[in-house]
Amino acid sequence: MYICVCNAISERQLQDAIAQGAANLADLQAQLGVATCCGSCADTATEYLPGGRYAADVGAHAGGLVGEFEVTVLSREAIRRVA
Ligand code: FES
Repeated sequence: MYICVCNAISERQLQDAIAQGAANLADLQAQLGVATCCGSCADTATEYLPGGRYAADVGAHAGGLVGEFEVTVLSREAIRRVA
């Protein structure tokens, strides 16, 4: 979902920037360019910052970026042999 249509900034980009330390709208503007054109996204973007309505979503998203996971890659040949 796009938060800033003018600059094609997605919710995920916004959450990543905040998880990596953006602490206010000025940081988001500097890092992403959000709210630097028409400005209509400024209030929504601000709601993702600490204390905002969607701040908890940033933490949940950031938690998904860390931790270990295992990826198994099978070649087409191996898949044919298994099937
Ligand atoms: S929608 Fe973000 S600056 Fe216009």
